[in-house]
Amino acid sequence: MGRCMKLAVLNQKGGVGKTTVSVNLAYGFAHEGKRTLLVDLDPQAHSTIIYSSPPKKPEATVKDLLLSKTSDIRKAIIPASVNGQPVNGLFLIASNIHLAITAEQIIASTHREKLLHNHFKKIEKDFDFIVMDCPPTLNVLTVNAIYTADLILIPTTYSVNALDGIADLFKSVSDVKESEDFAFLIVRNGYDARNKDSNRFIEENLEPYRQYVLKTIIRRIEAINQAPMNREPIFTFDPTSRGTEDFQALTSELIAYA
Ligand SMILES: Nc1ncnc2c1ncn2[C@@H]1O[C@H](COP(=O)(O)OP(=O)(O)O)[C@@H](O)[C@H]1O
Ligand SMILES: [Mg+2]
Repeated sequence: MGRCMKLAVLNQKGGVGKTTVSVNLAYGFAHEGKRTLLVDLDPQAHSTIIYSSPPKKPEATVKDLLLSKTSDIRKAIIPASVNGQPVNGLFLIASNIHLAITAEQIIASTHREKLLHNHFKKIEKDFDFIVMDCPPTLNVLTVNAIYTADLILIPTTYSVNALDGIADLFKSVSDVKESEDFAFLIVRNGYDARNKDSNRFIEENLEPYRQYVLKTIIRRIEAINQAPMNREPIFTFDPTSRGTEDFQALTSELIAYA
């Protein structure tokens, strides 16, 4: 296996599927035998809730990594588990609500955008994929994810204003990367075949980005919505669901891309 690929799942809009994509893609990668680390960068900790029912609490969370350059990232990595069962090959760096305050604290520190990047350097050889679930803001947490990411993965929905903020998003990424030339892909989420007009509207708006739009479309499926209520990824919650099918396809497409 080649080098580690770091993905930032990014969109400053809330509710577009960042967490859904992060949680399920991370599971998909691990299921395909890829050593995967899911990093929860959202103080709301929705990804963390899915995968952490650990017998032992982590000695550190993402907050500690951001607050201290000398904090040991290995102490923050915990095995992911679902229904008390460890998920082979899947690991988690947990978030919690305190991360919101951390974000404010590190705004003034030097090299603040490189904090996560420098921690990752120590463990990249242990993983094939690092998936970062970003908060719905363009703050210092997101900037850390952007800085270290090899690929920006942008989930977008089929709502009328879905692409409104995309220019701002690209501007932020190119500011952080200090380059216009960065790798990004767009994943369409929440497709409903019945909504012909809005589907056509979104496809027309995506036209300028066509070469960056992934082939896989994640459909709007109730099981995808229910799985987190049971603290599960779609893969275990309903293995025969069309949602599992879609996330399997997305996993394969991204593994091929990597
Ligand atoms: N393809 C989908 N089908 C059904 N529900 C979805 C789908 N994608 C996301 N959802 C639901 O929409 C809500 C927002 O998704 P989430 O992943 O939390 O967005 P974000 O992390 O961008 O805020 C969640 O309740 C989630 O379960
Ligand atoms: Mg989220």
